[in-house]
Amino acid sequence: MVTRLVVPPEGVGETVGHLSSGELVALPTETVYGLGGNALDPLVCAKIFEAKDRPLSDPLIVHLPDSGWLDRLACPNPLATRLAEAFWPGPLTMVLPRRADVPDLVTAGQDTVAVRWSAHPVFQQVITGFGRPIAAPSANRFGRISPTTAEHVRAELDGRIPLILDGGSCRHGLESTIVLVRGEELSILRHGPVTEEQLAAFGNVKPSAGGVAAPGTMASHYAPRTGLLVLAPEQTYVPTSGTRTGLLAWKGLGAETEAKYASVERLSASGDLREAAANLYAALRRLDEAGLDQIVAQSVPGQGLGAAIMDRLRRASYRDGNPNGEGEPPGEP
Ligand code: TXA
Ligand code: MG
Repeated sequence: MVTRLVVPPEGVGETVGHLSSGELVALPTETVYGLGGNALDPLVCAKIFEAKDRPLSDPLIVHLPDSGWLDRLACPNPLATRLAEAFWPGPLTMVLPRRADVPDLVTAGQDTVAVRWSAHPVFQQVITGFGRPIAAPSANRFGRISPTTAEHVRAELDGRIPLILDGGSCRHGLESTIVLVRGEELSILRHGPVTEEQLAAFGNVKPSAGGVAAPGTMASHYAPRTGLLVLAPEQTYVPTSGTRTGLLAWKGLGAETEAKYASVERLSASGDLREAAANLYAALRRLDEAGLDQIVAQSVPGQGLGAAIMDRLRRASYRDGNPNGEGEPPGEP
């Protein structure tokens, strides 16, 4: 299969056409690029799993054309309705009791469905044109870093999908926050751009450790191929001579130490967590492609958006059942 790249506004019509004829398309959202298809057609959803090499046990997020679709696919309680009013369209996914119209393949046979309404203008044009919900996981092969540009999508899925709609870089650069809503309680299944602090204003946030986890948030997720060591706050690391080490810097390690690194990527020169989140995956990809022996990442502050960044770094550092850093594997389901 030849993978073609198209750009908005001309490419929007073709993207809608592909969706309408049961094809897959990669397209931008404000978080990361998604691999989208008709959410109500099980055969199309099967193609999504196939293109990504994704296990069928890992359910898909359903993107809605507008909030009016919420009641058609899920059963929102009053708290879910309040969250939708506050954060939609935007980078929040809610896991809610499902309705029967949602294919079992989408929910992996569970009695819940994950729903989100994206704020990306190009995504909105496409889904409005299509007029139906779009199932869209991140447009990477299973277990790999999510794409934040059309070029990243090509690197992941070239030859496996017919069309990529190039809408530029994704603003947030991290996947949406996923919350499970039960009664007046929320559990964060995946940290993301909508922070725990923001969510706490709406309901009781239960610690995510106990109980349900998003099936796809396995410890080894978001992994570069090169081994990654995450430093403790304020920890320094001097590469042993003869090894090619890359640094994913937050505050930096000082000119003298950094000179010993083969490659240095800065998440944000001004110390801005939003900028750091938006740069994270592209920087990890560049380091992963630089032919290094290992990558060393500095910690970022754990509050607000920093919680989501640290979560991704810990997962990226965990491989082959062995965390490269220390501590327990994060959020193993
Ligand atoms: O920002 C995002 O959320 C992006 C864009 C494209 O929307 N999508 C995304 O999808 O990150 P994906 O499939 O890569 O990650 C969705 C996560 C998976 O870990 C999956 O297991 C979990 O959501 N999930 C989906 N449905 C679920 C459900 N019913 N219950 C619990 N977790 C669910
Ligand atoms: Mg993903």
